[in-house]
Amino acid sequence: MTTLYTDIGELVTNDPTQGDASPLGIIADAALVVDGDQIAWVGTRADAPDADRRISCGGTAVIPGFVDSHAHLVFAGERSAEFAARMSGEPYGAGGISSTVAATRAADDTVLKVGVERLAAELLRAGVTTFETKSGYGLTVVDEARCLQIAATVTDETTFLGAHVVPAEFRDDRAGYIDLVVGDMLDACAPAASWVDVFCDRGAFDVDEARHILTAGMAAGLVPRLHAGQLGPSGGIQLGVDLGAASVDHCTYATDADIEALAGSQTVATLLPGAEFSTRAPWPDAKRLLDAGVTVALATDCNPGSSFTTSMSFCIAVAVRDMNFTPAQALWSATAGGAAALRRSDVGVLAAGRRADFVRLDAPSYVHLSYRPGVPLVRDVVKSGQQELSRRVES
Ligand code: NIG
Ligand code: FE
Repeated sequence: MTTLYTDIGELVTNDPTQGDASPLGIIADAALVVDGDQIAWVGTRADAPDADRRISCGGTAVIPGFVDSHAHLVFAGERSAEFAARMSGEPYGAGGISSTVAATRAADDTVLKVGVERLAAELLRAGVTTFETKSGYGLTVVDEARCLQIAATVTDETTFLGAHVVPAEFRDDRAGYIDLVVGDMLDACAPAASWVDVFCDRGAFDVDEARHILTAGMAAGLVPRLHAGQLGPSGGIQLGVDLGAASVDHCTYATDADIEALAGSQTVATLLPGAEFSTRAPWPDAKRLLDAGVTVALATDCNPGSSFTTSMSFCIAVAVRDMNFTPAQALWSATAGGAAALRRSDVGVLAAGRRADFVRLDAPSYVHLSYRPGVPLVRDVVKSGQQELSRRVES
């Protein structure tokens, strides 16, 4: 069964061989054909082939589904009081994670599953068609393993983050906790994970600890990615590059040397505007990274402490307003950039043979994502060729 989506006012393909030949590969007055779960054809409306079914997009914009390469969705409880305290002047630190750890350990699997499914549904409504999620709020062998098994029910992109912080019961025995992470915890978690992550920052793990944990994860067949440079400068970003990490995330305090290292590498820098917004942290300057030739992704970092949002549109608007992205760069980073951070070639681009994941906006141009901040512009979401969400049914 083929479907022709036509009367697309502006089609963002992320394929620079198309349309205006920019990185977004924008085709005006466009159409696309879906066959099963894949894109079969993209081009101008006038050239469109016949299909079994035809859907008019009424002159609106169509963009690739967002790829959210960084989220922490498996947890219990919430921390609105901590957010309110921060907005009253308290600083953000890694310590708040422990209250979510206590709530997560106390929650049964059903509570965790209902929570993760609610956030997965929220992401889909926000136009996110691929997302990653991490463990990191269990911090025991049993709790990390069950968090990853629950994560694996909603996404293939699961990350072992046993090294989020040292839990309270190991306060006087860091080395003992790290031994547990690289030993029994890794053994129990690796079967349900693709990635290994470490929070390499002040109050969490230092560079040597992070290297040890990531190297152990790699030996178990996981691919590294890490949190680094969120709370202050550290060697974490260069460690990520040295280990060939898929992505180094946050990079709020990236130094010139960090940027130089990232620029010549296969490692993506993932920026997380929700975290700076919700912790009143300084804004990283994306222009510094982009001008140096670094591949940049934008992700939600959805988590109950530092960034409780599933809205990629919000992240794009903040990135454009406060982080020196152009609207075009922000959209690319939230789609193709996220795909690069997850080393995925099947998503993030609308071209023949790619997965049919796209979003129809209630707007004539993708620029409206930052021009109309806070407005729910995601109208229809097509994931793997299936219309998952429609705010207005058409035929
Ligand atoms: O990505 N940086 C570490 N982890 C999360 C925050 C976790 C929390 O505060 O619960 C982040 O910002
Ligand atoms: Fe995070």
